Amino acid sequence: MSAAAAVGFYQSIFGTKPEITVRAPGRINLIGEHTDYNLGFVLPAAIDKAIWMVMGRRNDNELHFHSIDLNDRYQNEVDNFRKSEKSWVNYLLGVISEAQRDGFNIGGVNVVFGGEIPLGAGLSSSAALESGMLAGLNELFCLGLSKLEIVKLAQRGENNFVGMNCGIMDMFASVMGQARQVLRLDCRSLDYEHFPFDTPEHSLVLCDSAVKHSLVDSEYNTRRRECEAGVQVFHKIMPEIASLRDVPLDFVLSEKKRLEDKVFRRCKFVVEEIMRVDVACKVLKINDFEAFGQLMYATHNGLQYEYEVTCAETDFLVEKTKQMPEVLGARQMGGGFGGCTLNLVKKEAVSEFVANMVAAYDANFGLKLACHVVSLEDGVEVKRY
Ligand code: GLA
Repeated sequence: MSAAAAVGFYQSIFGTKPEITVRAPGRINLIGEHTDYNLGFVLPAAIDKAIWMVMGRRNDNELHFHSIDLNDRYQNEVDNFRKSEKSWVNYLLGVISEAQRDGFNIGGVNVVFGGEIPLGAGLSSSAALESGMLAGLNELFCLGLSKLEIVKLAQRGENNFVGMNCGIMDMFASVMGQARQVLRLDCRSLDYEHFPFDTPEHSLVLCDSAVKHSLVDSEYNTRRRECEAGVQVFHKIMPEIASLRDVPLDFVLSEKKRLEDKVFRRCKFVVEEIMRVDVACKVLKINDFEAFGQLMYATHNGLQYEYEVTCAETDFLVEKTKQMPEVLGARQMGGGFGGCTLNLVKKEAVSEFVANMVAAYDANFGLKLACHVVSLEDGVEVKRY
């Protein structure tokens, strides 16, 4: 789906020209998993897979949404909507609802969208939709929102309207991403720094397990509660501790006996993962991709045995790469229980890598593995006609 195709759809549905096109990219996260809601660090980037949203104001107060890929549509009044039974609609309604709560005046609008972000693959198509919708509304209705305000409103839409208690990473990456750069985000202060990830010798390859377990949302919220349970225990001993970000590893280890085993393992993983982001940034600055790859494997190991958010398919995909000299590192990416693995692969061997992985996955699970080489791109962009 290209921007031009989305514009064509818009014209055929509404019989008028759109006013704007929004490119809203998906994201990857190089390292720093489940650290955003623990107010630690993450290292995401916007990618070349995006949703194209074509939008225009209406003369009435109606919302008309059309998803090209799902071949589905929605229509309602802008001042009189509720949560829909269609999940894709709620990402769009959620940000309108939150913008209205802040007193912004949104009028009737037509939205047609389609894209190339695989759904349920852990590439944050939902955050892209939310960020893109807000960036579009910002332009059409002159809301005067800064990029950071768009990020925060998008997260509120997802937390309060959609009901997924996600952290801030996905929308931050989708809005703030820059081509050939990763973004080191401090999820407590929201300070961030871009630095280059521009290596001629390596490629980032996603292997989409095509698994999306239904427990992902409920288990995600459970992990959050387990981390909070750990923080409560630590806070009683050291009142200045407000999140796992504030907890030194030594302290987690020394207080092990006070924690339920599961809570101990969750906290240990998060604290170590926050430390890994710091090390990852240092090794990236000196272009030590071998060391970076080892950190990815360490993350997966923690996700598998301590945070327990992986599944047989993603564990297999990561394990398989350990026998492949062309792979520097691999790990499951995103919320968990399926989705994509992220692989750091020597560029000259990408075709061989993909062929081997596809064959192995088919032989073991009888499933077709889709692989995508991704490049790092700019965040949300709005183009006016
Ligand atoms: C999902 C959430 C993010 C983040 C990741 C795990 O993608 O939306 O906020 O917590 O899981 O790192």
